[in-house]
Amino acid sequence: MKTKWDQLFAERTRNICGSQIRQYFALTERPEVISFAGGFPSNEFFPTAEIAAAVSGLMQEEGNQSLQYSSTEGSMELRALIAEKMSRQNAQCNPENIIITDGSQQGIDLLSRILINPGDPVLVEEPSYIGGTSAFRSHGGIPVGIKMDQDGPLPLSMEKTISMLITEGKQPKMFYTVSNFQNPTGVTTSYERRLEILEIASRHNIIIVEDNPYGELCYEGEIPPSYKSLDREERVVYLGSFSKVLIPGIRIGWMAGPGPLIEKAILTKQSTDLCSSSLGQQLAYRLSKEGFVEKHTRKLIDLYRRKRDVMIEAIDHYFPPDVEFNRPRGGFFIWVNFPSSYPTSKELLELALQNNVAFVHGEGFSNSGDGGTHSARFSFSQPPQEHIKTGIKTLGNLFWEIETRQSLKAVEKV
Ligand SMILES: Cc1ncc(COP(=O)(O)O)c(C=O)c1O
Repeated sequence: MKTKWDQLFAERTRNICGSQIRQYFALTERPEVISFAGGFPSNEFFPTAEIAAAVSGLMQEEGNQSLQYSSTEGSMELRALIAEKMSRQNAQCNPENIIITDGSQQGIDLLSRILINPGDPVLVEEPSYIGGTSAFRSHGGIPVGIKMDQDGPLPLSMEKTISMLITEGKQPKMFYTVSNFQNPTGVTTSYERRLEILEIASRHNIIIVEDNPYGELCYEGEIPPSYKSLDREERVVYLGSFSKVLIPGIRIGWMAGPGPLIEKAILTKQSTDLCSSSLGQQLAYRLSKEGFVEKHTRKLIDLYRRKRDVMIEAIDHYFPPDVEFNRPRGGFFIWVNFPSSYPTSKELLELALQNNVAFVHGEGFSNSGDGGTHSARFSFSQPPQEHIKTGIKTLGNLFWEIETRQSLKAVEKV
């Protein structure tokens, strides 16, 4: 229904529409629902006592000063600490090449403001993180999906997509990737793929935006070197975050990139929020400096690994074998593919909700128009282990019912 507001909203807000996923969240929040939908960190793992002690320590040692605004680029001590950490991971970086942001989400938004003109194509993974594609859309960008397999984005799909866009007179400027334990698929881009993607990006003068909020939650093996550490051309912009390794409530992340881009980001951020929470920055600094964030991350790795294992074991046990899924080595997400003979994942979600279990259907993550109809994202980060088992068992029963009904129909036909 149209309201008087529709005439008042600015042109660019036309591209902002409620995600289908948010509409389902209301249903998943019913207390009786076991939800694999939300991709949030687990409240039960938040280090409440340590946060309280750090706030108290700050008040005692810094007093009122700790409650003041900070500079737009963020506190020098936190940027220096991040730069040192990134350099240790071979992604050489100076504090001057870093801006502190309100989570990595603000990094995506700032980049959209700086780089996207209305109508510009933005290369993204297919499927891709909805918060990223929504930000691109809200600034007039058009996300264009690059197909993926278990090793990450497919170089051939990237080449073909770029050629097609260039033929249409649209040169893409950036490729947005979640290179480790991707949201939504859990896929980690292999080392060889990273080199291939970098080479294609270099040939077509495309910036790579590497969003890495999950990389440190690695439950087995190691992650490949970051795009940032492999970059020799100042082509990669890196987004990091304290949300998953500490708490999201302080809203502290960062963007590391080439000088001119960071300068533009600082000017753009100035008119957005003046600065990120100074209290949040000081907490992130203090808890990192004391070694707490690293220690806590090791603990989180054990805790989330257990949840992942419980979900994988339950899926192995309860789901019919033709329902396929990946086994992510880290992060929060398992991507499930249903046989094409099944109802669509949207319909399956409706059925699951009737049984008080929720997940996110795949269509919301797709940028190709028809993708994700038989896929879904299951997040194991939030529900307790017992609920994971019960929820997966309930879904398993539902899927076996569907299979049985299909087999009966086939017999009737014969
Ligand atoms: C891929 C990805 N990028 C960015 C974000 C936003 O994180 P932050 O809290 O750092 O803004 C999320 C949150 O779930 C995410 O999954």
